[in-house]
Formats: sequence, C-alpha cells, structure tokens
Amino acid sequence: MRKPTKTLGAVAAGTLSMLLSAQVLAHGDVTPQSVDTHELKQLGDEWLDENPYGEDYEKHDVALEIGFSAYTQNCARCHGLEAISGGIAPDLRYLEPGIEGDDWFKYRVINGAVRDGRVYMPKMADYLSQEALWAIRTWLVSVSTAE
Ligand code: HEC
Repeated sequence: MRKPTKTLGAVAAGTLSMLLSAQVLAHGDVTPQSVDTHELKQLGDEWLDENPYGEDYEKHDVALEIGFSAYTQNCARCHGLEAISGGIAPDLRYLEPGIEGDDWFKYRVINGAVRDGRVYMPKMADYLSQEALWAIRTWLVSVSTAE
C-alpha cells in the first residue's frame, strides 16, 4: 500500500512548515488578531498601573474568556498554548500575580523585547488595545503557578 506513506509525508511536510513559520514569527513578524472587548469596561488611552479586571471586577468571567482567546491568538505562538512555554519564550505562568506582576506585564507588552537590534518580542501594545492586554493578564493570573 502506497497511500499511507504519502499521507505521512504530507503530514511531516505540514509539521515542518508550521515549525518554520513559528521560527520566522519568533523573529518579530506580527499578524495581530483583533480582539472584541466591548463587553468590558473601556479604559481610554492612558495606561493604568493595575489590572482593572481582577477578581473583584463584576465581569471578571468575561475578561477571563476574552483574555484566553486573545492570548491564544496573539501570544501562544511564542509563549505556548495554555501559557505552557515550549522554550521559545518565557513561561508566563511564572509571572507574579498582584501589582508588581501587573507592572512588569505592562512594561513588556508596551516595550516588547529588543536585544542587539533584534526583535525578540514585538511591542504588542502597538497592535492590541489596553483592554485586550489586561484581559490577557487576567487570564494569565488565573493559570499562574507563581507563589
Ligand atoms: C514573536 C514572539 C513573541 C510574541 C508574539 C509574544 N512574546 Fe512575549 N516574549 C517573547 C520573548 C522572546 C520574551 C523574552 C524577552 C527577553 O527576555 O528579552 C518575552 C517576554 C514576555 C514577558 C516577560 C516575561 C518574563 O518572565 O519576564 C511578558 C509578560 C510577555 N512576553 C507577554 C506577552 C504577551 C501578553 C503576548 C501577547 C499579547 C506576547 N508576550 C507575545 C516573545 C514573544
């Protein structure tokens, strides 16, 4: 039977091209996926210092849902599905919860990460709204394994 062999070859080629494009993306290309945040409290242009969608927020659940989906579409290709890193980028489950973690999160998504002129992480805040990014932060806190 020749067919199964062919199919396996096609699968292998598909996997390879996925890996290759992940590598290209890890070097800074961004294809932002728009995130609908109209159900959440709107925050304006000025960045807040603290996550406004934490556990005390009345629509915390909505923020979690939006955050999970926005993370999966915009961050997972580098930081891993479910925030479990495959090694390309840091494992975001280890980010500190609370305001210090909020601060570091905000710094990184606004500034990205550039070393020796190479973009390791794009400035995600250029592509996603503050609302979308705080929703992602909300979801990340919910899967945090940091003490
Ligand atoms: C193109 C790959 C890429 C994408 C897309 C990406 N990141 Fe990153 N991110 C990185 C890399 C690489 C680092 C480590 C940078 C360094 O240490 O200099 C990083 C670091 C971070 C850090 C700091 C982590 C730590 O432990 O210090 C946070 C927070 C972060 N990213 C959040 C996000 C969020 C949220 C998104 C999606 C909105 C995102 N990143 C999308 C590659 C990416």
